[in-house]
Amino acid sequence: MSNIVVRKRASALGAEVVGLDLREPLSDEAVAAVRQAWLEHLVLVFRDQHLSHEQHIAFSRRLGPLETHESIPKFCHPEHPEILLVTNYENTGRKLVVGRQWHSDLSTTRRPAKGSLLRCEEAPPAGGDTMFCNMYRAWEALSPGFRSMLQERWALHDMTAARETRSRRSPEELADIRRRNPPVYQPVARVHDETGRTALYVAEMTTVAFEGMTEEESRPILEHLYARSVEPENVYRHRWRPGDLVIWDNRCAMHIALADYGDDERRVMYRTTLLGEPSGRVQETSAAAE
Ligand code: SIN
Repeated sequence: MSNIVVRKRASALGAEVVGLDLREPLSDEAVAAVRQAWLEHLVLVFRDQHLSHEQHIAFSRRLGPLETHESIPKFCHPEHPEILLVTNYENTGRKLVVGRQWHSDLSTTRRPAKGSLLRCEEAPPAGGDTMFCNMYRAWEALSPGFRSMLQERWALHDMTAARETRSRRSPEELADIRRRNPPVYQPVARVHDETGRTALYVAEMTTVAFEGMTEEESRPILEHLYARSVEPENVYRHRWRPGDLVIWDNRCAMHIALADYGDDERRVMYRTTLLGEPSGRVQETSAAAE
């Protein structure tokens, strides 16, 4: 454990952890140090790890129980439901578009993900970075008056709200997805269950409206919050190398995957997801927030 070095990679969030081989079982002390660094820096980068699926799962389990991704079965690894395939084309033979707007994993469910561990097997020669932003700082940067207006509010997170989903699916398919994954109200000011700090919890990809307000009324406020959240000083941008493992805390960080690489270039990534605490409540009717 004394060999672990944690180096900040950006001012707002993100640090690299040096001195651990995640292919080997870790001591409890080393896991505690990783956990502490994760809570402090929100995003941790481990370079040159080259994990197998089994090693990836084993290390992830040291941080908590894992999701088996029932809400997105078509992206699951056939033999390891804990592993989500985040490849750009492998499943379908055409370019896949996943996570291309700012979001927090599984915020559209009643068990939003605690954390995610993404490993890179193949990266395009340029592009395909992932960006992260610090939602504690986004919350703390708001004026006291704005914060008190938002403090007790809830906002609706809908799996079908993603731009890519809306543009590719028919109205019937969207209705079917929504029936199987009913939208969920989440607190706008979410208290982190481990640090006790408040983070802003609205996401460009999934949040459609505040409870008790129309989408039209909500949109300008949401867009203001999104813009404030992703100000350049509040972002860490990760340039992937094969062998990287990156962990982020979905309770207080949002992320976006960039699609700025060619259709013929491979980006092969695998993700495990830490099961989160229950949060939010399902929208009672199928009517949009009105
Ligand atoms: C994700 O949204 O979990 C995937 C992020 C990425 O592909 O960079």
